Amino acid sequence: MAKIQWKGGTLLAPVPAALVTCSDGERDNVLTVAWTGIVNSDPPKTYISVRPKRHSHGMIQKSGVFAINLTTKALARATDWCGVYTGAKVDKFARCQLETVPANEIDCPILADSPVALECRVTDVISLGSHDMFLADIVAVDVEESLLDADGKLHLERAGLIAYAHGSYYELGRQIGSFGYSVAKKKKPQKKSAKK
Ligand SMILES: Cc1cc2nc3c(=O)[nH]c(=O)nc-3n(C[C@H](O)[C@H](O)[C@H](O)COP(=O)(O)O)c2cc1C
Repeated sequence: MAKIQWKGGTLLAPVPAALVTCSDGERDNVLTVAWTGIVNSDPPKTYISVRPKRHSHGMIQKSGVFAINLTTKALARATDWCGVYTGAKVDKFARCQLETVPANEIDCPILADSPVALECRVTDVISLGSHDMFLADIVAVDVEESLLDADGKLHLERAGLIAYAHGSYYELGRQIGSFGYSVAKKKKPQKKSAKK
């Protein structure tokens, strides 16, 4: 493939478009965040990068907690809306009909209709330039019960998760493999036993 070179930029794709819920103890808020990811397994750590001028920024700085709510096709419109309007002027939960329930480990709401919510406690705030990175411990994970099978296995593929790539939202498509499938040994075909 022939390449042309652009200057350095943020063109990593796909990324999540998460709904991040927060609270300052008096009011709750929700904003859309694409600059997020997992940065450590043990202890489980994540980050969100938030511009200081966002209404949520001060709330998260004050409370030291937030929740990352994974988004689905059903939440796609709300995901976009909450990334355009500010909680300083409007109650986004009411406008987008987002039902909340209390988190378990942090003083912050989570979204009832999100399949997975990561409850996070901020450990470091790193100013990077345009954004401040809230580095955080994931202290609890809230999983939609109906996505578990009888053995307790999570079927996230049934959630209708969405992703964000180069300015557009996508519903995740067909599964094309699973962890380690490229190196998994193929099962030898069973030899038919000779008929007697
Ligand atoms: C898809 C999408 C992704 C976004 N990602 C981020 C992000 O990673 N960091 C950020 O500061 N703002 C991000 N925004 C913008 C904020 O969500 C937006 O400014 C929001 O209105 C802030 O709400 P608040 O003022 O209530 O905090 C994103 C918006 C959209 C639509």
